[in-house]
Amino acid sequence: MVNRIQSVRGMHDYLPAEALMFNKIEKILVQVLNSYGYREIILPIVERTSLFKRAIGEITDVVEKEMYMFKDRHGESLTLRPEGTACCVRAGIQHGLLSRSEQRWWYSGPMFRYERPQKGRYRQFHQLGIEVFGLPGPNIDAELIILTARWWRQLGVINYLSLEINSLGSMEARLRYRSALFSFFKNRLQFLDEESKKRIYTNPLRILDSKNSTVKMMLNEAPILSDYLDKESQEHFMKLCRLLDINGIQYTINPFLVRGLDYYNRTVFEWVNSSVSSQGTLCAGGRYDHLVSHLGGNFTPAVGLALGLERLVMLVNSINTTFKSFEPIDIYIIASCNSREAEVIVLAEKLRDSFPKIKIMTNYSGGKLKKKFTDANKLGARIVLLLGENENLSNIITIKDLRTGEQNLLESDQLIKLIRDKFY
Ligand code: HAM
Repeated sequence: MVNRIQSVRGMHDYLPAEALMFNKIEKILVQVLNSYGYREIILPIVERTSLFKRAIGEITDVVEKEMYMFKDRHGESLTLRPEGTACCVRAGIQHGLLSRSEQRWWYSGPMFRYERPQKGRYRQFHQLGIEVFGLPGPNIDAELIILTARWWRQLGVINYLSLEINSLGSMEARLRYRSALFSFFKNRLQFLDEESKKRIYTNPLRILDSKNSTVKMMLNEAPILSDYLDKESQEHFMKLCRLLDINGIQYTINPFLVRGLDYYNRTVFEWVNSSVSSQGTLCAGGRYDHLVSHLGGNFTPAVGLALGLERLVMLVNSINTTFKSFEPIDIYIIASCNSREAEVIVLAEKLRDSFPKIKIMTNYSGGKLKKKFTDANKLGARIVLLLGENENLSNIITIKDLRTGEQNLLESDQLIKLIRDKFY
């Protein structure tokens, strides 16, 4: 027996019903993005490894453990993108787009992280992201959050998500906080797990994210970032909170929200759902004012977010039952005898010319007429057009409305008018 080749662990097929659901949701997300005037950017899936190392930070889980890295035939180290922000910044600098004017971009596509797969966590997953360049004020941070809330409302999931926000302050404030945390943890080494002990020296802020219960308890006494914030960042954050308040967005300030990628400063936020899976963060982002200059461009303030499409689809599926993953077709064309089979395609093409928006499918499977009508029902067809052997005149067609059961004989030149009456 020949071994069957399976898909790679953590990488999934999206079968037609799932793909339909995926696309329906994405279409709604994109409609909202268009209504805010954001423009799509399409970027390569493979980038130089150094881009992610420099942008995300060497001492992060993503860079240390999760990147799909490989050497190409010339020995250059390349990586399947684990996220889109670094790619947008690279493209913006490379094409000279960031220093000239502000940019408001969105992108969508697969990302790759070598994580331990579980429900809601995959090795190939899809993100829809937004990146905005050139705007330093909190109004754009607020707009992004308000836009995401509009997404959730349109998808009927707003009541199942909560928003957590925090400010990481300026780079200097973060450094001061980092050294306060270092001293705090250094004096409590006995309460730390092995992972956190390592992080003291490399990235103590990441200990704030720890899932270990002893470490979590200790955090109640840990220094709080907001006590170290610089004045400008405090004001930026207060203005953001005010903008969210006047726009009716509910949020919780989580002083331990630090995010797993190194490039953030000031605003960070996460939309979290705890009921669907343990992988509760659905959408996350924040400000990264220093990343453009860190990657070789001119100083350009920036802010963005990304949502995990699989997690969103899972949430919508579990809550919004009206979101069907089945789209019925409009017209199904059948020939009841071999002599009229060739006409099926001709008729279908003619109808598609006249009605490009109507969904038309043709039967090619042969067999009994009853089976062909069963197929039409399974596809949810509203109308069957039957080219029958009894209609000895070749321009006669039987039209059957499967919803009402009504059936008529028709000359083919009357057909266009009848379809227009039924569908428009
Ligand atoms: P992130 O928090 O690493 O941020 O990922 C954003 C979202 O992608 C997560 O909230 C989650 O929904 C989804 N996600 C991440 N990893 C996985 C996985 N293994 N399986 C399924 N879904 C996953 C970023 O990537 C930043 N680039 C966001 C950003 C944009 N910040 C500023 N601009």
